[in-house]
Formats: sequence, structure tokens, C-alpha cells
Amino acid sequence: MQYIYNLTIYIMTARCKYEGGPGWGISLFRLDCADCAYNRPCNLERIFSYVVEMKKEMSVLKTSLFTPYTIKNLELKNRVVMAPMCQYSVTAKDGIPNDWHHVHYLSRAIGGTGLIIIEMTDVEPDGRITDYDLGLWSDEHIPAYKKLVDGIHAHGSKVGIQIAHAGRKAEDAAEPVAPSAIAYPDASYKQPRALTTEEVRGMVQKFADAARRAVQAGVDTIELHGAHGYLIHQFHSPVTNKRDDVYGQELSLFGVEVIQAVRKEMPAGMPLIFRISAVEYVDGGYDVDHAIELSRAYQAAGVDVIHVSSGGEGPAGARKPGNYPGYQVPFARQIREALNIPVIAVGALDEPALAQSVIGNEDADLVAVGRGLLRDPYWATHAAVALRGEKPSIPEQYQRGY
Ligand SMILES: Cc1cc2nc3c(=O)[nH]c(=O)nc-3n(C[C@H](O)[C@H](O)[C@H](O)COP(=O)(O)O)c2cc1C
Repeated sequence: MQYIYNLTIYIMTARCKYEGGPGWGISLFRLDCADCAYNRPCNLERIFSYVVEMKKEMSVLKTSLFTPYTIKNLELKNRVVMAPMCQYSVTAKDGIPNDWHHVHYLSRAIGGTGLIIIEMTDVEPDGRITDYDLGLWSDEHIPAYKKLVDGIHAHGSKVGIQIAHAGRKAEDAAEPVAPSAIAYPDASYKQPRALTTEEVRGMVQKFADAARRAVQAGVDTIELHGAHGYLIHQFHSPVTNKRDDVYGQELSLFGVEVIQAVRKEMPAGMPLIFRISAVEYVDGGYDVDHAIELSRAYQAAGVDVIHVSSGGEGPAGARKPGNYPGYQVPFARQIREALNIPVIAVGALDEPALAQSVIGNEDADLVAVGRGLLRDPYWATHAAVALRGEKPSIPEQYQRGY
């Protein structure tokens, strides 16, 4: 509202100036000079200082998808995030990014994306969904990631990487591991084995080791995958965690320990993102209040930004929202308001005006686009063009196309 009010005044002021209003005076709402906000006769100098002030105020108030965003040492040129999306393209099955990943990620950087989050990257071979996933389980992986990260940086985007373990959803593992020996309720998934308490501690260390390697490869931020029914999510869900050790008594404990261990491997100025499913879709699954309490614990442990998704833990029941534009935005707003923490909204937000409104209405601080960026690597540039008044970031080589 404040923004619309200021915009109205600004336009009326400009009209007054251009129509040669009363003595070039500011006639707010077409009143005489004496009745204007300054309550005294105008002069040219005052008119211009008023306009300059107003413009300054507007630029503060007008937060758009293309307003830069800074959190800790991470400076983004805009608020467009590429959502992590598995490519299942590691043909060598060694977890190492190849030419496909280079072309895929660098073209989204050329396309003006502010932050690119590299797809789910797993902390051990059996933590992959399939053998074609990325991994960071050895120091030998670091150079390939460094080349990828350097390439993305060279085209002006910042880089995050999603560190993960698939747990009971590891499809190609001979025997998947999980908090409890409860299989994903679908015949295509294998029966998992429950991790011992000692193995859970070892798993925390594997996340920390992968984070250290990501930092060595030059990433600007790390995202922990705590959503979509993968290992961290399996630990913090009452549906999948039936343990009777400490990791079952306190459902957030595994996530908290992972966060604390990962943080130790990150520079203090590097923000840590945590992706969470705000609600579970299975009947009897947790709701947003549980997700808020988990996020509170994770924030206290060192998370700076929550990336708000939903579901993925099992077959969808009654709580699954329809896949409408912006279907997860209300969850993002709820978590943002409850915890006063920056959030990334995601989910069918590839209509530029909708993405713009999520930022303008302060539902979220950043907007992630997934499938929209599969269809169009230049989504960010095209969104800026579509939202007239926003400045697209177009590489020199492509200027003549616009
Ligand atoms: C091909 C594909 C792969 C995905 N892989 C991941 C992933 O690695 N990690 C993750 O957290 N979400 C993954 N997702 C979910 C997306 O990050 C995103 O949350 C979802 O697609 C909704 O956003 P959208 O409507 O903009 O596509 C994937 C989605 C797609 C389409």
C-alpha cells in the first residue's frame, strides 16, 4: 500500500511539473502550493529535492525479483534461484560432473540466474537415488566440481550445492540404510536396514566431509537436503523414525548434528540453506507446525535460510496441495513469519508476474524456479524483459538479440 501511495504522489508530482502546475509547484492531489506537504510556497530547488527524496524512498520500498540480495558474504545480483534438479546424467557412475553438467549449469548462468543450486549431491555411493547421481564422497571429486563452479562464476551467477543422502529412497543401493527398517510404501523400493547409533554418527561426519569438499571447490553456499523424504527428512519425521536411541527421542537431533558439523567446515560468512518439506503428503504425516518447530531447531543450530518445499516422503494422501501456481508459497510465508528467517519459495512460480509478486508481497526473500529453467535456460533474462522496467542481464555476445 505504501508503495502504491508513493507511486501515486510521484506520478502526480511529475504531471504537475510537466503540465506547468501552479508556478512549477508541487500540487499534491491537485491542491494549491500552500496546501502541499511542505506547507509553503515552492521553488524549483525544493521541487527537485522532493522528487529525489521520493525516488530514493521508492527504490527502498520497491523490492523486486531483480533487486540484489545479500546474506552474510553471499551477494546475489537478483533473487532468481535455480532449484536443485537431479540430472541422472553421470554416465560413468562415479559421481563426477561431466560435459552435460557443464553445459546445463553454465547456460543457466549465461541466462542471468542469480543463484544456481547444483542438484542433489550425495555423501556416499549408497546415498545416491540412482548410480547416475552426483556425489562428493572423495577428495578426488573436488577438481571436477571446482571446474564447474569456476565456469558458473565466470558467467556471473553464484553457486550453491545440495548435499544429501537418499536413505531408504536409494534405488540402486544393494541394501539402503534408513533411521528405521521401514520401506517406502511402494513395491519398487527395497527394504532398508536401520543404521546403528555409531553409523548415524559416522553419517554426520560424511555430510561434514562433503561440505568441506564443496567449500574447497569454491561454492558460495551449501544447501542441506532435508526435504522430499530423503535421509535427513526420514530422521525428523515420526512416520519414518521409530528409533529408541537418542536420534529417535529427539527427531531433529540428526539434522541438528549435521548442521553443526557442516557449519564447522564452512567459512563464518558463508550462509547455510536448509531445504524442508513444510508438510508431509502421506495420511498421518506431519503438518506445518512440526516443520516450523524443526526449522526453529535448525535455525538455532546454524541455518541461515529455509528453502520451503513439501511432500516426497510417501504416497500422497489428503494433505497434498494441488499443483497450482504458487502452491507452496503460503508455507514459505508461514515459516518466514514464525521464525523471522529468510526463505526461498519454490513450486510452479515460473510465471514472472507471480514470482515478482512473491517478492513484492514479502512472502519470500528469494524465488526458486525448477521446471521453468529446464524449459528455458534464459528464464531470468526473459522474466526481466517480461516485467517491463526490470533490467535483464544480457551477455555482450547476445545484446543484438534483445
Ligand atoms: C527433473 C527434476 C529433478 C529434481 N531434483 C531435485 C533435487 O535434486 N533436489 C531437490 O531438492 N528437488 C529436486 N526437484 C524438485 C525441484 O527442486 C523443485 O522443488 C520442483 O520441481 C518444484 O519447482 P518447479 O515447479 O519450479 O519445477 C527436482 C525436480 C525436477 C523436475
